[in-house]
Amino acid sequence: MNTVLLVIAAYLIGSISFAVVVSKVYGLSDPRTYGSKNPGATNVLRSGNKGAAIWTLVGDAVKGWLAVWLVQYFAEPLGVGDMTIALVAIAVFLGHLWPVFFKFVGGKGVATALGVLLALNPWLGLGTLVTWLVVAYAFRYSSLAALIASIFAPFYYGLLFGTEPQLVAVLVMSGLLIWRHGKNISNLMAGKESRIGSKKK
Ligand code: G3P
Repeated sequence: MNTVLLVIAAYLIGSISFAVVVSKVYGLSDPRTYGSKNPGATNVLRSGNKGAAIWTLVGDAVKGWLAVWLVQYFAEPLGVGDMTIALVAIAVFLGHLWPVFFKFVGGKGVATALGVLLALNPWLGLGTLVTWLVVAYAFRYSSLAALIASIFAPFYYGLLFGTEPQLVAVLVMSGLLIWRHGKNISNLMAGKESRIGSKKK
């Protein structure tokens, strides 16, 4: 019973789309109407407002981190184990992708996945973040950085902890994240992907 309630709570937390909320607070256009139309930090940055992009990134990452950190911290009193932690990780990520509060039109999950990974293990999160930063610095494509980081993350998890239920959660997140980047992948292959910092169209 606890697992069901925790999974629902995690999904609801994940359903808060910080790109939309922060843009509203800043008086910006809805990020679902310009650029890639993705409600995420990269697209909010295309509005030209760096502060809004940073708060979007922080909000989306913190919700992923918080959901997983809380269930891990209270695992014993709640009487839940690794399987519930893995399900909560997937649920908060799914909430971001298909948010109940925003007609199920969500983002691609990069910042939320980062928060989840940081909560599962700070070294796992940091290793994945450094991978993202290296690729982003080298190529200036946010999407390419996310794709490469999401390929590496399950390997990092496997190397650190072996096969635990949480590895399945990391694999599910990576698979969905790559799938959500389908348009970015075709843009990258066609040389049409916009680089980090380019303004909205
Ligand atoms: O965080 C999402 C990023 O990887 C791609 O975003 O807006 O360029 O599709 P966008």
